[in-house]
Formats: sequence, structure tokens, C-alpha cells
Amino acid sequence: MVGYGNVGRAFARLLEAKRSVYPFRIVGIMKHSGTAYDQRGLPVEPEFGPPLDVPPAEAIDEFLNRARPEVMIEISPLEPETGEPSITYIRHAFANNRHVITANKGPIAHAYADLNLEARRAGVEFRFESTVMDGAPIFNLTRNCLPGCKIDGFKGVLNSTTKVVINAMRDGKSMHEGIAEAQALGIAETDASFDIDGWDSAAKVAALANVILDARTNPKAVDRTGIGHLTTAELVALKAERKTVCLVCRGRRTSDGLKLSVKPEILPDTDLLATLRGTSNFLLFETDLMGEMGTISIDPGVEQTAYGLFSDLVDIARSV
Ligand SMILES: NC(=O)c1ccc[n+]([C@@H]2O[C@H](COP(=O)([O-])OP(=O)(O)OC[C@H]3O[C@@H](n4cnc5c(N)ncnc54)[C@H](OP(=O)(O)O)[C@@H]3O)[C@@H](O)[C@H]2O)c1
Repeated sequence: MVGYGNVGRAFARLLEAKRSVYPFRIVGIMKHSGTAYDQRGLPVEPEFGPPLDVPPAEAIDEFLNRARPEVMIEISPLEPETGEPSITYIRHAFANNRHVITANKGPIAHAYADLNLEARRAGVEFRFESTVMDGAPIFNLTRNCLPGCKIDGFKGVLNSTTKVVINAMRDGKSMHEGIAEAQALGIAETDASFDIDGWDSAAKVAALANVILDARTNPKAVDRTGIGHLTTAELVALKAERKTVCLVCRGRRTSDGLKLSVKPEILPDTDLLATLRGTSNFLLFETDLMGEMGTISIDPGVEQTAYGLFSDLVDIARSV
């Protein structure tokens, strides 16, 4: 495992709970502040040795050589402007013939087409179900359940942190208090400004466009406005009018090319995109054969992100 924070530990707990049926082992962990190795399987709270104090490309090669995993699970923090160092980590895992699962949308948002090609060339699997809607099926749904169906666009509310923050502000709390609530739930990005400024959503839009609309885009190409300018007074007043604000993600193929956006929209409380409370996420696809259809995830947390990694892992184990 590369990265061992909220998601990593939730995943380790899940593996422990399911070990009698799914005997996976974590043979190595590389995080910013240390490394741990054990071919017999590491416990959820292992003792860490010193970090690999070399550039990312060398660190990942050394780590993989020592840990000897079959699958690398990449869950280091999102770096929305470049997707690094995760892209380097993933590239080196493919070069070392390891399957890769990531929950980090950076690599999918910046380099999906190239990474997918490199995985194919290396004869290994590349999975990323947790990158957009935690464990709820998005990519597996479109890959496995919609044969012959063309997807022309999507819309959704995909960032749980901004939902928690907006709901807190509707109740009269400050943005700062709302962010603290999201951090206590373990759902905020390592740097929560990436949620508030819409970078997390933009990375999800770019990831969806790259995988589902066959684009070669990146988060910087998404027309992005965050929620940083919203005030508590504004949201309390909207609540009295039975309205709210949602950070809405949209992607669409048009005759003028791809239109990708992330914007706060004022919606009536009864709008489909606004009805789901808590951390709930919502994604709808526009399709030719199935009309508009999609996935809802009610109040997902890190356990569901961990489940997305787990479902990818089981899928890889079944396919090799
Ligand atoms: N949390 C969620 O609900 C959620 C949902 C979907 C996707 N994700 C994605 O999952 C990933 C992990 O999220 P998280 O909530 O677990 O983050 P987190 O709690 O902040 O943990 C990040 C981990 O990555 C390690 N790390 C930092 N820089 C690194 C580097 N350059 N190389 C290797 N490891 C590094 C950190 O090391 P130290 O422990 O030493 O600081 C820490 O163990 C992110 O990409 C995030 O976007 C998270």
C-alpha cells in the first residue's frame, strides 16, 4: 500500500474482517513518514521504520522490490494540478508488472489514457472504482452492465465535504466549523481547500470524462467555481426559502466539443440533486438506450471508499 491514512486503515480493517473468506495480506506499506514490511501480513497498526528518503521514482522501485506485492494499492493524497507523485508510482508499478488499484483521482484525471495503455502493455490490471463515488459502482457499472449503450454526458453532486459544509452553514455555523465536521468524518481531502475550491470535483469530472467520454482532459480544463465565497447568512436565508446550494458537476459531449464544469447552483430543496443530505452522492448518466440513469450513495464514508478498493481487489483476484 502506498499511503496509509484514513482510507488505508479503513481498508486494512475491512481486510481483517473478511480474511476468513478473502485471505489477502498487506505485505508492505509506504507512507510519507515511514515504511513497514512483512510477508506474513501486517497488522492494522504496524510498527513503521524510517521513510524512503529518495525521489518518488526511486522510492517506489525500492519499496516494490522489498514488499514484493502482486497488487499495489495507491492511496496517497490528491495533487489536483499534476496528479504527482501518484502517476509516477503507478507507472513504476506497471513497469514492475504489478496490478494497480487507486482511490486517488489525480492519475485518472490527468493520465488515464496513457496509464491504461501502459497497464495493457504490461499485461496487468488497472482499477479505480473508488475515485469518484467511493465504493458505489460507476466504472464497473458502465463497463459491465451497459453493453451497447452510448453515454453522452453526466451530472452529479460528487463532493461530500462541500455537502457537509453547506449543511452546517445552513444551520448557522461558519465555513470553518463545517470543514472541521468533514475532517472529523475523515472525508475531507488532506488539504480541505481542494474540496472547497472545487478541485476535488473538477478532478472527478475530468476522471469521468477521460474514462466514460473517451476524453484526454485534465482538471484544469474544467470550468470550475468553488464554494469559498458562500456566506452563512446567504445559506440561512436560502434555507428559509426552501432552497439550497449544491456544487454540481456536469460533463457533456456537444457539437462544439466537450463541456465540463463544476459550479455551485441554487436549487429548490425538492430538486433531485438537492434532496440527498449528509455526505450522500449522486451521479446520473445521459445515455442513448437507457435514458437518464445512475447511482446514489447514501451517506458514504471511508468504509465505502475502502470497499471500492476491496471490490476492485476481488475483481482482479478473480480475473488473473
Ligand atoms: N477519505 C475519503 O473519503 C476518500 C474518498 C475517495 C478517495 N479518497 C482518496 O484516497 C486517497 C487517500 O485519502 P485519505 O483520506 O486516506 O488521506 P490521508 O488520511 O490524508 O492519508 C494520506 C496518506 O498518504 C501518505 N502520503 C503523503 N504523501 C505521500 C507521498 N508523497 N507518497 C506516499 N505516501 C504519501 C500519508 O503519509 P503520513 O501518514 O506519513 O502523513 C498518509 O499515510 C486520496 O487520494 C483521496 O483523494 C479519499
